[in-house]
Parts: sequence; structure tokens; C-alpha cells
Amino acid sequence: MNLIEQLARKLSQDRRAMALMEKLAGQLSKTKRFSHGSSARFIPLARHHNVLFVCPSQSKNATPVPPQHLWEGYAQTELDYLKCGQDDVAQMLCILNEVGQPPIPLTRVLDLGCASGRMLRFLPRDETSEHWGLDINAEHIAWCQEHLNPPMLFATNTTAPHLPFEDSTFDLVYCGSVFTHISELAEAWLLEVRRVLRQDGYAYITIHTRQTIDLLRTKYRDDPLFSDLLAELNSNFAENNPDGVEWSVFTFGADPNSQVFYDVASLERRWGRIIPVVAVKEQAHDHQAAVVMRK
Ligand SMILES: C[S@@+](CC[C@H](N)C(=O)[O-])C[C@H]1O[C@@H](n2cnc3c(N)ncnc32)[C@H](O)[C@@H]1O
Repeated sequence: MNLIEQLARKLSQDRRAMALMEKLAGQLSKTKRFSHGSSARFIPLARHHNVLFVCPSQSKNATPVPPQHLWEGYAQTELDYLKCGQDDVAQMLCILNEVGQPPIPLTRVLDLGCASGRMLRFLPRDETSEHWGLDINAEHIAWCQEHLNPPMLFATNTTAPHLPFEDSTFDLVYCGSVFTHISELAEAWLLEVRRVLRQDGYAYITIHTRQTIDLLRTKYRDDPLFSDLLAELNSNFAENNPDGVEWSVFTFGADPNSQVFYDVASLERRWGRIIPVVAVKEQAHDHQAAVVMRK
């Protein structure tokens, strides 16, 4: 009998201690499942003792809607979840066409930080398309691989900046509301994006800007989707920057749940040295701006 078994046997004589131990085990396994900080490789699937199962799709629908806990807070209903993904893709394509000379063929596309494919599922495609979705959260990718592949392709990526593709692979790499949560190593991620883009390929990255702050305090003031972020701004930010210290970037927290804000002029200076910035469009992704870059 190993030490844990001995401990468990002792504790099992005390029901309260046993209940506490079960609670602790639950919390530990949750931390392990969702802690991107340590690794994203723990695929949170059905578990039977030490065997981890990937369960096949039960859905008859060709592109089913993921369960609500995988919606990343984007909507309250299935209809709204689908609509906001469709709208964000339409808006992205419209902006890319506006700045694209000539219009860009989007055969090979990477959605970096795709979650459960909210946007990727709406990207127009044909039999020549190679559309990839990557995320550090393996639960999203496990769902996508079971339900959206084929036609789309998916892989879990690491928390350290690395994209598992050859140089010059993609016509477009886009990140919808992903760099808004990358507080560390943003430039290193951007360098990876540059590497996997083909010459003349586009990057489309949404960010929080100064205008985001204004929008959250006005247009989106009563929107429940943004209430937490607005509360942070109104308390945390206001309290901790009472003298209005100038900033080029600030972040609430420094982990995968962080919220990062950029000053557009300094971002253009810094990011533009990595991939030339073609345009920054405010309010492109609700309250977020889109940075369009061309290699
Ligand atoms: C707010 S969600 C946006 C999801 C998706 N882009 C969309 O528009 O529906 C942010 C996603 O980015 C992922 N993420 C954060 N940092 C990442 C990174 N360095 N590489 C890949 N995914 C990342 C998170 O796991 C999460 O799924």
C-alpha cells in the first residue's frame, strides 16, 4: 500500500476529512485541466481511472454548435453565438478587402486562438482551402477535432511562442480577441506570425485601444458581456492610475486571463518594425480595434 492509499484508508474512517479530500482532489484536477500556465497538453476528456477518452461526435449536424461553456462568454444563446462569429468574419473580410490590393486569395488561413471555431466555421472555403485553428486550450481543440474536422484542421499550441508550421505557409493569420489576453511575449508571438506568413500575406489582429476604454464607458456601458471589464476599468485602473500616468501598454493581470490595452501610435511604431502595419481600424471587432499588417 503506498502512502496515498494509507492516507486515504485513514481518512476514510473520518467522513468529514474524506469529503474535504474529495473537494481538494476536484480542485487540483480542475487546476491541472485549465492551467495554461503549466501546459496545455492535458486534454480534458472523459476519464475512467487512468484512461482518458476522446468521445466521438454524437451530433447529426455537420457543423454543430459547441456546448455553452466553450463559447468564451460571447453570447447567451446559440443563435447569438453563431451570429457574432459570422458578423466578425464578415467584418474582417470587408476590412481586408478594403486594404487589399489586389483582393487576396485566402487558401491557407490560420485562426490563432480559435477557441471552438466561432469565427473559423464561417470563413468561406472550397476544396483547395487549408484552414487551421490553433488554441492553447486543449478542450477547445478536442471539441473542434471531433466536430469541425474535416473540413477544418486543428492543433493545440504551446504557451511559449511557437507555431508548428513551416515558414511562409499562410495567406492570412488572424487572431480575434487573442492578443488582448497575451500580456507576455506578444512580440515573440508576432515574430512567429511573420515567419509563417507568405510574402504579401496578411495578419489581422484585434486589440484593446484607448478608444476601447471610451466605448466600454459609453456604447457598451450596459452590455452584460463587458460588465467585468468595465468594472475593472472603473475601479482598478482608475484607482491605480489616479494621476493619469502616461502609458503605451497596460494590462490587468499577467496570465492567460489578462486584459491588455495598447496605445495605437506606440503599437504601430513597435509592431510595424516586425510586420508593416497597413491600417488600424477602431471598432472593427465590437469594442476592439483591428491591426492589419502585410508581410
Ligand atoms: C476571447 S477568446 C477568443 C476566441 C476566438 N478567437 C473567437 O473569436 O471566438 C481567446 C482565446 O485565445 C486563446 N489564447 C490565448 N492565448 C493564446 C496563445 N498564445 N496561443 C493560442 N491561443 C491563445 C484562449 O485559449 C481563448 O480560446
